This record gives sequence, structure tokens and C-alpha cells, in this order.
Amino acid sequence: MEKFSELIAKRRSMRKFTSEPLTADEVQLLLRSALISPTSKHTNGWQFIAVDDREILDKLADCKSNGATFLKEAPFAVVVLGDTEVTDAWIEDCAIAAIMMQLQAEDLGLGSCWAHFRNRFTADGTPSRDAICELLSVPAPYEPLCVIAFGHKGMERKLFDEDRLQWEKVHINSFDNSRE
Ligand SMILES: Cc1cc2nc3c(=O)[nH]c(=O)nc-3n(C[C@H](O)[C@H](O)[C@H](O)COP(=O)(O)O)c2cc1C
Repeated sequence: MEKFSELIAKRRSMRKFTSEPLTADEVQLLLRSALISPTSKHTNGWQFIAVDDREILDKLADCKSNGATFLKEAPFAVVVLGDTEVTDAWIEDCAIAAIMMQLQAEDLGLGSCWAHFRNRFTADGTPSRDAICELLSVPAPYEPLCVIAFGHKGMERKLFDEDRLQWEKVHINSFDNSRE
């Protein structure tokens, strides 16, 4: 693995993918990274649906009105669901698992992008969560947070621009910097 400090600058959202499928080992490593993630009170309040079926990936893209069309190009995606009964921190648990998969993808040289579905709607105004739960037969009490698309990178992206780091958002000892 390259240095973690370099890996996190290299990970940029990838919305263009080649048609090359992921290997079984790559898929396993991505899912392992989700299952290894830390959770509140170790409740593991998530479930993951691995999707490599072209028709389902295309239908997932339509589960929200915009911002998910890249799923129509991605050869693989993971739907991240929270268990709303076992933990009140399911959003946090799911978000951490999602970014763990994105970082694992970068380490494998793969691209990834988050498609957000919580509190989103389809083009006809149906809640995205209803559309996803119906499409993938998701029972209560599971709630979709996001779908992470994965694939071989279809374009170059620049490293994160260090000049854009908002150091002014960091406060030392108190929010009120005038007290320094
Ligand atoms: C909570 C969250 C929701 C996001 N939702 C979407 C989305 O629905 N569609 C999309 O194209 N990108 C989505 N993104 C990706 C962001 O747009 C992207 O991470 C951000 O613009 C920074 O760009 P970078 O990832 O290339 O550094 C989401 C990212 C996060 C963390």
C-alpha cells in the first residue's frame, strides 16, 4: 500500500468507468473493508447488498431524480443499509463503512462514487428509499443510506488540491480564536 496520506488525496469521486468487471478478489476485499469498519457500541448496524447485475444497476440509478446516473456505467455497486432497530447511530455506521470501501477501492486502483439516497426522491416524487426497498426486496427495519459505485477508472482525476484545504475551519482549544 502507498502511504495513507497520499491515498486519501488520490481518492476522488469517479463517475466514469470502463466496462471491465471487478475480480472476485476485488469484490471480496471491498466487502471485507465494510465488515471491518467500526460501529457504535459494536452493534454492526448495517447490511450490504452487492450488485453486479446490469439491469438492477440501471434501475438503481433511476431510484433518484439526479446524481446517480454513473451507476448506469458502473460494473459493480454496494447498497448500504442501516438497521434502524439495533442502533440510533446507523447513519454514522453506514457512512463509515461506505468511506472504508471507497478507500479500499482506491488502494486497489479502482474508482468509486457515493450516490446518496436517504431523503432523496425519484423523478416522479416517490421517496428513493421506497423505490430501492421495492427493487431489492429490503424489509423493515432496514433503511438505505447510499449506494457506492465501483469500477475501473474511466478518466483521470487530479489529486486533491492542498491549496483548497480550509484550515480556517480548524479551531484550537476553543471555537473562538480571539481567545488565543
Ligand atoms: C454524503 C455524501 C453524499 C454524496 N452524494 C453524491 C451523489 O448523490 N451523487 C454524486 O455524484 N456524488 C455524491 N457524493 C460525492 C461528492 O459530490 C464528492 O465527494 C465531493 O464533491 C468531493 O469530491 P471528490 O470526492 O472528488 O473529492 C456524495 C458524497 C458524500 C460524502
